[in-house]
Amino acid sequence: MPVITNINDLKRLHKRRTPKIFYDYCESGSWTEQTFRENTSDFDKIRLRQRVAVDMEGRSTATKMIGQDVAMPVALAPVGLTGMQRADGEIKAAKAAEKFGVPFTLSTMSICSIEDVAANTTKPFWFQLYVMRDQDFLKNIIQRAKDAGVSALVLTLDLQILGQRHKDLKNGLSAPPKLTPAVLADLATKWTWGLEMLQTKRRGFGNIIGHAKNVDDPSSLFKWTAEQFDPRLDWGKIEAIKEMWGGPLILKGVMEPEDAVIAAKTGCDAIVVSNHGGRQLDGALSSIRALPPILDAVGDSVEVHLDSGIRSGQDVLKAIAMGAKGTYIGRAFIHGLGAMGEEGVTRALEVIHKEMDISMALCGRKHIEDVDRDILRVPEDFAGRWA
Ligand SMILES: Cc1cc2nc3c(=O)[nH]c(=O)nc-3n(C[C@H](O)[C@H](O)[C@H](O)COP(=O)(O)O)c2cc1C
Repeated sequence: MPVITNINDLKRLHKRRTPKIFYDYCESGSWTEQTFRENTSDFDKIRLRQRVAVDMEGRSTATKMIGQDVAMPVALAPVGLTGMQRADGEIKAAKAAEKFGVPFTLSTMSICSIEDVAANTTKPFWFQLYVMRDQDFLKNIIQRAKDAGVSALVLTLDLQILGQRHKDLKNGLSAPPKLTPAVLADLATKWTWGLEMLQTKRRGFGNIIGHAKNVDDPSSLFKWTAEQFDPRLDWGKIEAIKEMWGGPLILKGVMEPEDAVIAAKTGCDAIVVSNHGGRQLDGALSSIRALPPILDAVGDSVEVHLDSGIRSGQDVLKAIAMGAKGTYIGRAFIHGLGAMGEEGVTRALEVIHKEMDISMALCGRKHIEDVDRDILRVPEDFAGRWA
C-alpha cells in the first residue's frame, strides 16, 4: 500500500490507474489554462503567520456551512462524470464524505443517479443543478431531488455554454468511452478500472438517460447537452427555480462583486466564488483573488464560499482566514477516487484535514471560528492594480 502524504501522491496514482481521456478531462482548464494555473499558484503567494506559546489542546475544525454541521469547512464539489473516474464513483465519494462528516454534492452530469446515491447513503447530500431549456425535465429533476431528501440545491451559474478544453476535443471524450484503437491501447494498461467498470451497470448519465425526452442512448447525450443547457438563464429564472425548489439554495460561480450583490438579494443561503476550476472563462481571476472584493461588497448579507485551486488544508485555511465560510474541493477528491476508490477519497479528506488542523494550531488558533485575516501575510499587490 503506497504511503500517501499529500494530494499530489493521489494525483500521480490517479494518472497511472485511470484511462487518459478521463484523467485529462479532470486535469484540464479552458484554452490557455491561465486561470486553471493561477487558481493554485495564487494560493502560494499568501503566507501564514507562525505564533508561539499558545495552548493548542482541544482543537476542532468542526463548523457549519449553511447552518449544517460539518467536520471541517470543506464540501465535495459537483464533478460531472465522476463515475467514469472509477466505477460507481459518485456512490463511493458520497460514502466517504458522509463517513467523514462533510457534504457531498452530486452533479447533474453524474453517472450514478440521484436515486442511486440516495439508496446507497444514509445522510442527505447536496445536488447541483444545471438549468435546462426543457421545463418538464427541470421540474422533474427538482422534484426527484426533493424526493431523494437532498438538503441543499447548488445552482451553477457559469455554464450556460461550455468553455473549450482542448484535450477533451482531441481525446474525443464520451461516456462510456468509444473504443478506438488509442482508447483500447490505453485501457490495456488500466485493468482494475476496466474490471470494475465491467461489473457495474452505471456507465451512462444516470440523471438524464430515461428521464429526458429523446435521450435513450449515451451517443445522443452530448448533442442533447449542447442543445439543452439554457443560454437564456437570468436572475428572473433563478428566482423561479428558487421558488420551485423551496429549500436551501447555493449559487455557484460568482466572480464579480456586482453579481455577488444581486445574488445575495435573491435570498439564497450562500454564494460560491468559483471560476469552475478554470474550466470556463480563461483569463478570469483566480478565485482566491476574486474573494476579498466580493466579501467587501456583500458584507454579512450572505454566506460566502469558495472553490477552485484548493489542493491542501493550508489552502482551505487561507480561504477561511480571508473570510470564506466554507470551501469545496473538486480535483483533490477526484485524484483520491481515481487513485484508490472510496478509500482514496477518504485519504484526500484526511490529508486536507491534517494539513488544516496542524497549520491552524501553528498559527495559534484552536477553532475555525477564531481563524481570521490576522493569521495571514498577503502581498500588498495581491488584489492587483487593474484599470
Ligand atoms: C472534471 C470536472 C468536472 C466538473 N463538473 C462540474 C459539474 O458537473 N457541475 C459543476 O457545477 N461544476 C463542475 N465542476 C467544477 C467543480 O464543481 C469545482 O468548481 C472545481 O472543480 C473547483 O476547482 P478545483 O478542481 O481546483 O478544486 C467540474 C470540475 C471538474 C474538475
